[in-house]
Amino acid sequence: MQKYIETNRQRFINELLDWLRIPSISADLHYKNDVRKAGEFVKDKLIEAGADKVELCETAGNPIVYGEKIIDAKLPTVLVYGHYDVQPPDPLELWTSPPFEPVIKDEKIYARGACDDKGQVYMHVKAFEVMMKTNSLPCNVKFMIEGEEEIGSNNLGIFVKANKERLKADVILISDTGMIANDIPSIDCGLRGLSYIEVEVTGPNRDLHSGVYGGAVANPINVLCEMIASLKDENLHIKIPNFYDDVVELSVEDRAELNRAPFNLDNYKKDLNIEDIRGEKGYTTVERTGIRPTLDVNGMWGGYTGEGAKTVLPSKAFAKISMRLVPNQNSEKITELFQKHFESIAPKSVKVIVKPHHGGEPAVTPTDTIAYKAASNAMEETFGKKPIPTRGGGSIPIVAMFEKELGLKTVLFGFGLDSDAIHSPNEHYGLFNYFKGIETIPIFFRNYAEMSK
Ligand code: BES
Ligand code: MN
Ligand code: MN
Repeated sequence: MQKYIETNRQRFINELLDWLRIPSISADLHYKNDVRKAGEFVKDKLIEAGADKVELCETAGNPIVYGEKIIDAKLPTVLVYGHYDVQPPDPLELWTSPPFEPVIKDEKIYARGACDDKGQVYMHVKAFEVMMKTNSLPCNVKFMIEGEEEIGSNNLGIFVKANKERLKADVILISDTGMIANDIPSIDCGLRGLSYIEVEVTGPNRDLHSGVYGGAVANPINVLCEMIASLKDENLHIKIPNFYDDVVELSVEDRAELNRAPFNLDNYKKDLNIEDIRGEKGYTTVERTGIRPTLDVNGMWGGYTGEGAKTVLPSKAFAKISMRLVPNQNSEKITELFQKHFESIAPKSVKVIVKPHHGGEPAVTPTDTIAYKAASNAMEETFGKKPIPTRGGGSIPIVAMFEKELGLKTVLFGFGLDSDAIHSPNEHYGLFNYFKGIETIPIFFRNYAEMSK
């Protein structure tokens, strides 16, 4: 197997680069055709690798790529999930090379989607090819690769509900998360949920002269800032009533266990070029991103933002706000609590509209399953170290849905690094990580089939 990977190394890189050249930005409808092209690309590659029943399944939005290889109905089935859509690349001027013209620098592939998630999905496509070409696929495999993960996976939910039979499997395998470091392998065993909201604050019926009216009429940007600032207390605890009602507090032992994961604060600060960190009092950084909910402004606009200075008291202000949720918070419930509270704190001098966007539920994935052990042992074999179970701070809403709709547990088999700059300018993915994935995935399959006997 290793020999096959080495012989085909350059082609495995080149194919991924070709895929990365397609700007499959799901958030921007201008790229709808490119999103589809990226789906077709991976469809073709699955066929070439030897998958059966490969098709582009139409949805109300972007198509879902499905494919399978059933070698024996009596053997277990692994359902591999991933996404071929990517985040918008903005701000473009901060990229050192164009986001859709991938380049390899210092043994890393630089491009939007290099790590999240095309690079990690393609590890599975190539690992599958390796197993097919070396006659070593030990169980059944199904692929479901969607094009709307970065915008909330709404149509995937519908697809899953309508295709329960076709998606029948024993475990879900997803490479769309990260690990601690290249010499410290880890496996995420939890993901946060998400409530995403947009707010619009309207003051006077038109933009005003900020001298003629300033000081006497509510400035919606000022008001919005004050409202947002009031959402947290001095300990950075969120002040929305009932917000923490359903949060699962970990036991002292579980917290100690979580904090045993290696974490170097100096490197963390250096990587982000910050003098200090900031977060909820009473929790460590690992806890703040792993087991605690958050509230963050993702974007805010209004008034004059062009060249030079224009003296204006704006009519409107906007913000996009996200809350990361932890078990057992519920996205819909938190969105409602936010809406009720935000409307209640609006001064009479402005009108406030709260528009809910997409959401997703948090998830915990078990470590006491055959699949987890198969993954852990596979990483131990290729990294020479047993991976540490961790909690991921990001969200993959479909994980909770797979459990609810298909009754299936997930293994988050991620090979990225926090420093890969996913969603940021200069996203990249190490060739080390790409090939570690291609090498480790077949070992997972071997272990899983073996242990399922
Ligand atoms: N792959 C990420 C999620 C992720 C990254 C989980 C790193 C754990 C560690 C995924 O593509 C993503 O970005 N999800 C969105 C959620 C979605 C509803 C827009 C997110 O977390 O913001
Ligand atoms: Mn992703
Ligand atoms: Mn993402």
